[in-house]
Amino acid sequence: MKKRVQLLFFSLLTYSVISCSQTDEIKYKNPKYNVNQRVEDLLSRMTLDEKIGQMNQYNGFWNVTGPAPVQGDQAKKYKHLREGLVGSMLNVRGAAQVRAVQKVAVEESRLGIPLIIGFDVIHGYETLSPIPLAEAASWDLKAIKKSAEMAALEASAAGINWTFAPMVDVSRDARWGRVMEGAGEDPYLGSQIAKARVQGFQGEDLSLHNTILACAKHFAGYGFAEAGRDYNTVDVGTSTLNNIIFPPFKASIDAGVKTFMNSFNELNGVPATGNTFLQRTVLKGEWQFDGFVVSDWGSIMEMMAHGHAKDLKHAAEIAANAGSDMDMESYAYVGHLSDLVKEGKVNEALIDDAVRRILTTKFELGLFEDPYKYCDELREKQVVGSKPVRDASLDMAKKSIVLLKNQDDLLPLAKEGVNIAVIGDLAADKTSPLGSWRIAAKDETAVSVLEGLQVYKQNIITYAKGADVALGEPNFITEVQINQNDKSDFSEAKKVAKKADVVVMVLGEHGFQSGEGRSRTKLGLPGVQQELLEEVYAVNKNIVLVLNNGRPLVLSWADKHIPAILEAWQLGTQSGHAIAQVLYGDYNPSGKLPMSFPRNEGQVPLYYNYKNTGRPVAPGKDVVFWSHYQDQKNDALYPFGHGLSYTKFEYSDIKVTPLPEGVEVKVNLKNIGDRAGKEVVQLYIRDVVASVTRPVKELKGFKLVSLSKNEEKSIRFVLTNKELGFYNNQGEFVVEPGEFSVFVGGSSKTVIETSFEL
Ligand code: NOJ
Repeated sequence: MKKRVQLLFFSLLTYSVISCSQTDEIKYKNPKYNVNQRVEDLLSRMTLDEKIGQMNQYNGFWNVTGPAPVQGDQAKKYKHLREGLVGSMLNVRGAAQVRAVQKVAVEESRLGIPLIIGFDVIHGYETLSPIPLAEAASWDLKAIKKSAEMAALEASAAGINWTFAPMVDVSRDARWGRVMEGAGEDPYLGSQIAKARVQGFQGEDLSLHNTILACAKHFAGYGFAEAGRDYNTVDVGTSTLNNIIFPPFKASIDAGVKTFMNSFNELNGVPATGNTFLQRTVLKGEWQFDGFVVSDWGSIMEMMAHGHAKDLKHAAEIAANAGSDMDMESYAYVGHLSDLVKEGKVNEALIDDAVRRILTTKFELGLFEDPYKYCDELREKQVVGSKPVRDASLDMAKKSIVLLKNQDDLLPLAKEGVNIAVIGDLAADKTSPLGSWRIAAKDETAVSVLEGLQVYKQNIITYAKGADVALGEPNFITEVQINQNDKSDFSEAKKVAKKADVVVMVLGEHGFQSGEGRSRTKLGLPGVQQELLEEVYAVNKNIVLVLNNGRPLVLSWADKHIPAILEAWQLGTQSGHAIAQVLYGDYNPSGKLPMSFPRNEGQVPLYYNYKNTGRPVAPGKDVVFWSHYQDQKNDALYPFGHGLSYTKFEYSDIKVTPLPEGVEVKVNLKNIGDRAGKEVVQLYIRDVVASVTRPVKELKGFKLVSLSKNEEKSIRFVLTNKELGFYNNQGEFVVEPGEFSVFVGGSSKTVIETSFEL
């Protein structure tokens, strides 16, 4: 205690010496000056070490409301905090905890620069909304924006002012566990969703206490890890980089995103963290991004393992020169950057540039006016888990569900007089529906499917587990142990199924089977669940299969045999209510797949916007020399954009009219079913001949349309150069005249078609 007081006294003394020695006023503390003036003033007062300190980010390191650290890195981190050598921390959460670290930075360090507090608010903070891939399936940009707004509201009340989201990596590979965290396989949909999420998190005014910094990640190419194995090598061509990978990042900048995170992977031989082309030429050069770039966790250090840096100092040199502004947990900048500047290996102007970017966001957040603005414990209590947040999560969950199959209108279920068998470990699970990336959510806080169904009291429900999905209690860090053998509960499940009118089987992946580090080579139902499904089917064919999963699964057997299949992902806190309301028809599903579902693993990576190749069709019967498999079709089982409704929609009268700025496409949409519903009308184009070959179809517009029974609407799209052009291999955006096909429909497959000349 004594030491602490002495230290405080010392830092106050130093502070007053500095302030007295300045001839001018301390502008950075005065809100009457603009952000630039304040940043420059502060920068001019900082030592080199203090500047480098702003580029250093530490993980939370001790229970700050409890005893202080005493040894090792913990003590070092704490010391650094007081010395002004930490610019940001992550994984410190809760108003009280954040207040405690902020207090050290602001009240004990020489210049009192507040910290930015980062956290992975990926799909909510404590109240969870659906995993991002599920939200993408809603194609509902307003709802997605609102979901991000709610996440920001809760997180900011718990002390956080920076989320490491959205993940805007396009991915075509269902083996990659992190597809759950993104918006799927399409750059256009991904860009729209990236914008919605950035706007949702950051709001109109970052200085409000309920908005937080967003972070577009992982720049770049991370979703193209070879063979879907996380962290693996990425080797993509220029056209894919420019036209598929980059657009959602660029869209994030257009939406005003303040931060970027680089990525673990190498891209064409150079780790993204040390990649000058990505960070300086493209991001800060061509795109003029004026926010800052944080490394991924330890990714500066990992350049040694990549074989790109000989030691940590070398890694720091490469990363700083390449444009990584902040070091997350590599200790590389705080340890070596000062020497590197003194040795002339890193120009101090680059350090100033990085620090300027970081400080600017701190001023924009309003942290210099009130460093404790996110640390109101009363607000935290009122906001976290509150009704508006839970309501938004339920709304988003319903919108995220995709009806994959509904033979003979088995769904929706009647609300009375039905004897329902509910089968599956996941049906009663209150933790797994929270999904991966849920660090602040408590276990057992999701509404299970069983609980959701029990709200409808007029039917008889009998539950049988059938088989465990996972063994033990899976967690965020370790590999999930899947039940591969135990079928001892099968017989009970079959007994229950036999007596039922309809069987609701809830099967799929455990919430921790997708996410970071969770790649899979097999995409079927994990463990003994496929066998369970087949055995139950043998006694009762009237099955509704409800899927919980964080990635596309292989569902070929189910598609052939099971009459109704509902894709319910991991829907978060309100999961069970959302699923029950859809099963009973209180909510008519309108979700559409943001990723193609393969027929088998051998097709992966699989995506709708593939290239035609030189040999797209069989030259003749029994001739093999065309682009195909001997043993499987080329197309998806459930294509991108697919999703059914309890009503039916009819498309007709597609018409293209030239406009001064491009073309107008109109189509007629009619609800020909027996209830109101929503349809995602999708517009695709094909640039038939181009200097760089174009995909057979590219999504270029979509509209979420509500129609009551028998209602008809004319749906209008406008295609301008922005939609009709593409990036050539010199990185230039070009629009080439010639023939374009236009397709409109309710999926990437079911479409009506026309064409026009540009
Ligand atoms: C590593 C992940 O790749 C990144 O997305 C995340 O934000 C950081 N860890 C921090 O948790």
